[in-house]
Amino acid sequence: MDSIRVKGNGALRGQIPIAGAKNACLALMPATLLSDEPLTLTNAPRLSDIKTMAQLLGSLGAEVASMQGGQVLALSSHDLSNLTADYDIVRKMRASNLVLGPLLARAGRAVVSLPGGCAIGARPMDIHITGLEALGAEIELKEGYLHAVAPRGLKGAVIEQRFASVGATENVVMAATLAKGTTVLKNAAREPEIVDLVKCLRAMGAEIEGEGTGTITIQGVDRLHGATHAVVTDRIELGTYMIAPAIAGGEVELLGGRRALLASFCDKLEEAGVEIAETDKGLRVSHATGRVAPVNVRTEVFPGFPTDLQAQMMALLCTAHGTSVLEETIFENRFMHAPELVRMGAGIEVHGGHATVRGVEKLKGAPVMATDLRASVSLILAGLAAEGETLVRRVYHLDRGYERLEEKLAAVGAEVERVREE
Ligand code: EPZ
Repeated sequence: MDSIRVKGNGALRGQIPIAGAKNACLALMPATLLSDEPLTLTNAPRLSDIKTMAQLLGSLGAEVASMQGGQVLALSSHDLSNLTADYDIVRKMRASNLVLGPLLARAGRAVVSLPGGCAIGARPMDIHITGLEALGAEIELKEGYLHAVAPRGLKGAVIEQRFASVGATENVVMAATLAKGTTVLKNAAREPEIVDLVKCLRAMGAEIEGEGTGTITIQGVDRLHGATHAVVTDRIELGTYMIAPAIAGGEVELLGGRRALLASFCDKLEEAGVEIAETDKGLRVSHATGRVAPVNVRTEVFPGFPTDLQAQMMALLCTAHGTSVLEETIFENRFMHAPELVRMGAGIEVHGGHATVRGVEKLKGAPVMATDLRASVSLILAGLAAEGETLVRRVYHLDRGYERLEEKLAAVGAEVERVREE
């Protein structure tokens, strides 16, 4: 398992290109199942999760060709030979459950393993199931698998989600594109990745409106055709790299960044004393070396502060001029980065969904362990500002969501390298 070695090396300067969004691409790829015509995705990120999704779609009989070093994906699902998403793949990546809605809509049947436990929480699928059953699916849990059938096809319905689940919104919207009649999805998720998926579905001939608001209306059609779609910029990669100059000092331009993707996150960074300017190429983030002001953070569904940036923000606040409180409201166990940051000298106390961070002058490098994707990158960010060397183990977590991380950080002056371990 590889590790990444990072050493505090002072202020960062230069440009970091931001890739296409992992969490948009993982919903866009299953959309190929809705049509027997080819779907081409450009600006796709080069990540292990994308390869896993390609493997899953391949196991269903779809074809996924990766071109231009993985930046272009050519997908087609002319003949679906298998309608089962196997536990071995689904347990590695929860987003595999996004084949459920499309398979039900296209083939009237699907067998999808429940994802099983995940480091950050139980992550049940009740909201997905309730939504798809409202469209007429019959879903039964047998031996760890969801067996879903729609014997009379899917029928439009008015659905109100108990929580604005991103994945459930994606499954229901994709299924509803081929349902008979109109579906109104209330308390729908509003994330930019949902907006991006709807744009792609509309290019495929779907009739949808309201994306980005809490209510999405879908008029079912008989079939969808092929399309070409550019994956939206990854706002979580963007926010992650915005923390780098904030914690280490310096000035970095994030190419392709747009404030609209991360308004509440940018507001919080500015409250902490970080400067953010829109340029014609993206976002420029600067902060004189030194410490930021403490701020309180509460994660919420979009457009609130993103849960996927909570760990990264905590790393920044470990060296703030005072005490900050972070409240995690989306997942029940998403503070696993805290004990690792404490090993680096951070002053963090976790009580349930709240973490109190008392800022210290300097963190100290240490060997630390990656636990989940966003926790891992928060340790790298902390290492950029720590005295001495930090070795982050098990970086396969990182490779799921950050392409060429060490190259991107080294290009702006960070001392970071990948250590291959047998
Ligand atoms: C998506 O996961 C993202 N993943 C997550 O990013 C992100 O953290 C999450 O949305 C929230 O923004 C992808 O898009 C592939 P949810 P998803 O359904 O769809 C509970 C990353 O780091 N819930 O909005 O699984 C659930 O347990 C990943 O890139 C139910 O209770 O998120 C969680 O507590 C991590 N029942 C909360 O809702 C359900 O049926 C949010 O889940 C569904 C969800």
